[in-house]
Amino acid sequence: MGKQKENKRKPKREGRVVTVGKAESVPPGRGATVKLKDGTELALYNVGGTFHAIENFCPHKGYPLADSRLYGGIVECNLHGYRFDVRTGECFTKKSCGIEKYEVNVEDGMIRILI
Ligand code: FES
Repeated sequence: MGKQKENKRKPKREGRVVTVGKAESVPPGRGATVKLKDGTELALYNVGGTFHAIENFCPHKGYPLADSRLYGGIVECNLHGYRFDVRTGECFTKKSCGIEKYEVNVEDGMIRILI
């Protein structure tokens, strides 16, 4: 467990909602990188019309999961194939590698994430 990388770009939990862009800009089956003002970031996915956000960071070696391939609700890290459920942050490859997920809502066509 000690070998896992630390995500230095993980947003701090502040209990506030940030509006990150238009829902139509991320089509179903796609992912996007969300960069927040403080330099932290998230991976956002559209799974069949429902949006989900997780850390943009594979705990194995730190690859950005927003740039990885989405299979239904599962993202597979492009680098060595670790698999994560984008709806829960659960890691299927190694249980201890689970990552944080963030609540996402769409309001008036805008994507809003609770950090
Ligand atoms: S960095 Fe190795 S599986 Fe993601």
